[in-house]
Amino acid sequence: MKKIPIRQLQEISSWVASIQDLDKLLDLILKSAAKMMNANASSLMLIDRETNMLFFQSATGVKKDEIKNFQVKLGQGISGSVAKSGEPLLIPDVVKDPRWFREISDNIGFKTRSIACVPLKVNGKTMGVLQVIDKANGSFLTEEDMLILSEFAELAALAIANARKIEQVKIENTHLKEEIGSKYQIIGKSSALQSAITDALKVANSSATTLILGESGTGKELLARLIHQSSPRKEKPLVVLNCAALPESLLEDELFGHEKGAFTGATHQKIGKFELAHEGTIFLDEIGEMNLGMQAKLLRVLQEGTFYPVGSNAAIFVNVRVLSATNKNLEEQISKGKFREDLYYRLNVVQIHMPPLRNRMEDVPLLAEYFLNYFKDETGMTGLMLSKAALDKITRYSWPGNIRELRNAIERAVVMGDGHSIKPEDLPISARKPNASAFPTGMTLHDAIDWFKKEFISQSLKQTAGNRSRAAENMEIQRTYLSRLISKYDIKDQ
Ligand SMILES: Nc1ncnc2c1ncn2[C@@H]1O[C@H](COP(=O)(O)OP(=O)(O)O)[C@@H](O)[C@H]1O
Ligand SMILES: [Mg+2]
Repeated sequence: MKKIPIRQLQEISSWVASIQDLDKLLDLILKSAAKMMNANASSLMLIDRETNMLFFQSATGVKKDEIKNFQVKLGQGISGSVAKSGEPLLIPDVVKDPRWFREISDNIGFKTRSIACVPLKVNGKTMGVLQVIDKANGSFLTEEDMLILSEFAELAALAIANARKIEQVKIENTHLKEEIGSKYQIIGKSSALQSAITDALKVANSSATTLILGESGTGKELLARLIHQSSPRKEKPLVVLNCAALPESLLEDELFGHEKGAFTGATHQKIGKFELAHEGTIFLDEIGEMNLGMQAKLLRVLQEGTFYPVGSNAAIFVNVRVLSATNKNLEEQISKGKFREDLYYRLNVVQIHMPPLRNRMEDVPLLAEYFLNYFKDETGMTGLMLSKAALDKITRYSWPGNIRELRNAIERAVVMGDGHSIKPEDLPISARKPNASAFPTGMTLHDAIDWFKKEFISQSLKQTAGNRSRAAENMEIQRTYLSRLISKYDIKDQ
């Protein structure tokens, strides 16, 4: 029996694994089959499950282009029968076979004598057929040809199965990326935020150690993720460690790992975060909380690029980009002897500041809407709206807990509200808090001072229940001067 030469089969098999373009691959498989069998023409047809028609995915022979205009019903002709039954057919003389559907051959003027047709099956399900028509030398197609054809049909099926898997993985990947992307989206148009983002994108291209400063909840971690995601290291891990969460011994264990048996209870070797982050990025959050002992150990890693797991004397070399963040004033910590100056200089090669929300109040409505949509999606409360009064309250508040506080407030309002409209009372904030920093923007200094004086005097009068003498005393100004200011600024009686 004639077998396909092994080498040739191997070559074809290797395409199946390496070529990701299915059309091209099927074309190659068909051409090889036709060549090996010395066929006059051949075709690979696939079933369109919506229409139950077979279409020509690829073809060889003089009429290969014309034939693509035709489709065959499932069950119609030789190919349609094979596609329907899933059983191969060898027809030595088509003219004598009642199943032959001669219309196509007649139409394109192609003389057909014999046909060999086998099904293409993926997981037992027929996806299409592979068929050859006549030998170029005029001899009949034989059972041997059927065997060769079946081998190629298997390859084609494998290619289809692989391509589907790849397609599936691609779809899953984009979903995952979208999910991650939207989870870590940075919302805000203010120039203060945009300039932090611009800085982040600039440092992303380098491996520069970067320190991110800013109050709690301003998005420092989010920015660290942006830096990693935009960096050449993005395919490697981003490992996050919160230095405030752990006492020194555990922190060391987390960062550097340990050998099996390094201490009581160390029953397994543990890989530290520095090693996990090899070729990627480590983000040391709340670095200001790290104690001096750990600071010394961290400094050594930064200086030498090596460290020792607990209980090991074999140094491990790592290539890790270090990002860190804190809401503490590290220079102040240095002067108090709580933070090592040499470590500070190592960490602070580039510094990015995340502005507090009260300094970019124009971002508040955008963020509120973003979080509202986010929690709406999560809870399925599609009809939920933010009332005008609630939005007013949100824009008047100074958000000392920054974006984290805003996010939590919206989440609570979504959960606790009536499901139709978020009202001011659904928001767990007090709009009465003095909001000294939330000046209407775009004021001149002169106007801002006037605005402040008016606010300040009103508040003082409120405190003394409108008693001008006592208010003047508290403010250490003359009573007559206060009266003049009250009329100048048109302050209403308290
Ligand atoms: N600009 C922003 N757009 C969208 N979400 C943000 C933004 N800034 C912060 N957040 C969200 O607010 C929360 C606190 O941010 P985070 O990065 O943890 O702050 P920090 O590390 O400064 O305390 C997180 O849920 C984060 O996703
Ligand atoms: Mg944080």
